[in-house]
Amino acid sequence: MKETNYWNYLKVEELLALQTGLGEDESGVGNDELLFIVVHQIYELWFKLILRELTFARNALSEDMPHDHRVAPIVRSLRRAIVIFEQANQHFRVIETMTTRDFLDFRDALTPASGFQSAQMREVEILLGLEDHERISLGNRCFKDALKSADGTPSWSSRRVEARIAQGPSFKDCLYEWLSRLPIVGTVDGFIGDYVRAIRDENRSRAQMLVECGLPPDDIERLAARRRADESNVEAYLRAQDDPEADMATRAKRRAVRAALLYIESYRERPELGWPRELIEAVLDFEQAFVIWRQRHARMVERIIGRRVGTGGSSGVDYLDETALRYRVFSDLWAARSLLLRKAAVPTLDPALEDR
Ligand code: HEM
Repeated sequence: MKETNYWNYLKVEELLALQTGLGEDESGVGNDELLFIVVHQIYELWFKLILRELTFARNALSEDMPHDHRVAPIVRSLRRAIVIFEQANQHFRVIETMTTRDFLDFRDALTPASGFQSAQMREVEILLGLEDHERISLGNRCFKDALKSADGTPSWSSRRVEARIAQGPSFKDCLYEWLSRLPIVGTVDGFIGDYVRAIRDENRSRAQMLVECGLPPDDIERLAARRRADESNVEAYLRAQDDPEADMATRAKRRAVRAALLYIESYRERPELGWPRELIEAVLDFEQAFVIWRQRHARMVERIIGRRVGTGGSSGVDYLDETALRYRVFSDLWAARSLLLRKAAVPTLDPALEDR
């Protein structure tokens, strides 16, 4: 048995021997390449912690326990993952001390290796609930192909990702299941009907305000047309009529989820909604930190390699910017932000329906 001390417990000797790249030792690794390796390794360790917290949060969310007991530790886990991501975003500053010329000295030797092959990053996405069909296509190559060995056989990386997929369900599935069962006063459809009417009333009074402010008639008509189109989109969205392919059960669940999101924030002063609201805010914070990671990575890449294509075969910065724009797992949480009303305009809950 090993003696208990700092270096044995943390395996410092082994850790410091892991920066050789593909060589036997560090003799062929210059200062910039060492920086490049260390920063990537640190990121992989942060991803490891994030995966731990997200897995815990997903599992806790799928357990059958009373609301508050279940939610508090999930929020704690998400908060830790958020802080990690926020810290990790700062590390791109460290790698930016390497200039384009410094990087080009060893870049060619890296091809076709790329962050595109980070299994843990894919696991974070899969665990969150990013679907295959939502991914940006790189020609006819699936993201899983990039994780395989060069001869197409499974690798350590591809096996990890397959195992993660097999572990399902995603955090999003569990969150949506929980949201769809959130008790609300009255019925989901009744609440949606009241909310759509309240949005219309609010829009009408704002339009009237514009008339009173003396806005030119052309502008008023243009804004009114836009308002009518927005209102019918909002109604179709809240009634889950925006996806004609979806079956009845899927639509009913979507309606319940979308209603719950508006309900939680609209009546947030109700004691039973305190923890649900914390949870929704934490999920939004997490996705925001992740999007910022993508944007920050893209700016660092642009600064170091400009608009060159990536070693992994993507268009480079354009591809990365597109992921920052399109990879939103919790789009309903973001959509709710466009629909929420000020406190005075929110429909009053019928006291006769309380505790039913
Ligand atoms: C000199 C520094 C870096 C450059 C020039 C760079 C460049 C790129 C490029 C061009 C891509 C797009 C895929 C491709 O065609 O290769 C990419 C993807 C990626 N990189 Fe980096 N990168 C750098 C550092 C890092 C660091 C420090 C990390 C931390 C783990 C990282 C993680 C990733 C991940 C996870 C992806 C996949 C993104 C996705 O597909 O959504 N990269 N990188």
